[in-house]
Amino acid sequence: MAKISLDRMLQSQGFGTRKYCRSLIEDGEVAVHGVLVDNYRAEFETENLVYTVFDEDWLYRPHVYLALHKPPNFECSRKPSHHPGVLTLLPEQFTWRDVQPVGRLDHDTTGMLLLSDDGPFIHAQSSPKRHVPKYYEATTADAVTPELIAQMLSGVQLNDEPAPLTALICRQLGEHQLEIVLEQGKYHQVKRMLAACGNHCASLHRAKIGGLSLEALGLEEGEWCYLEAEELALLAEGA
Ligand code: URA
Repeated sequence: MAKISLDRMLQSQGFGTRKYCRSLIEDGEVAVHGVLVDNYRAEFETENLVYTVFDEDWLYRPHVYLALHKPPNFECSRKPSHHPGVLTLLPEQFTWRDVQPVGRLDHDTTGMLLLSDDGPFIHAQSSPKRHVPKYYEATTADAVTPELIAQMLSGVQLNDEPAPLTALICRQLGEHQLEIVLEQGKYHQVKRMLAACGNHCASLHRAKIGGLSLEALGLEEGEWCYLEAEELALLAEGA
């Protein structure tokens, strides 16, 4: 089983530079399985390793997979310019671990955002070959019409796309409300498709990705959670 020294372990989990992690340990701020350890060279098995920093308990994780209920007015980009970045909603060590959003939601879009520090996972989830349904709830400026729904389902030609884009599901929820399910994740896709149909997207919320919903996770706006193996498996579920 893999063993790791305490200073390296803390650094790998995003608690700062090796030097800083050593100082935390020597200052008596770190415990392992409930026992204070002030020797940074002490080695531990990583499996099921529970450690405490500043009285907060953590489980060692080789990678982290997270779901965040994104509030409005946060940016997903690495260098946010007009609004705070979504990483400011998470504990600081995730930034140190290079956790990144998987795909993007617009600054004014709310709902489920996945984040991880596992490069191949991010790549696989964002691949255009991966047909994972994403469930959106859109409020429209003008009333929803049967023609709009028919067009969203049969195909909408956007300016810079070679072929029309279709919604997998487009269902009326209210006079100005639609559920739209997409398998692709093109730039501003929902807003551009609605605009191309002659309507306007007034607000947008992503409720679910694959078989994993915010409701099932019990996440309120601004809250996040780890995703474990069973939840990650749900991400691959079709519509
Ligand atoms: N489509 C959009 O237009 N915006 C989003 O944030 C997500 C999908």
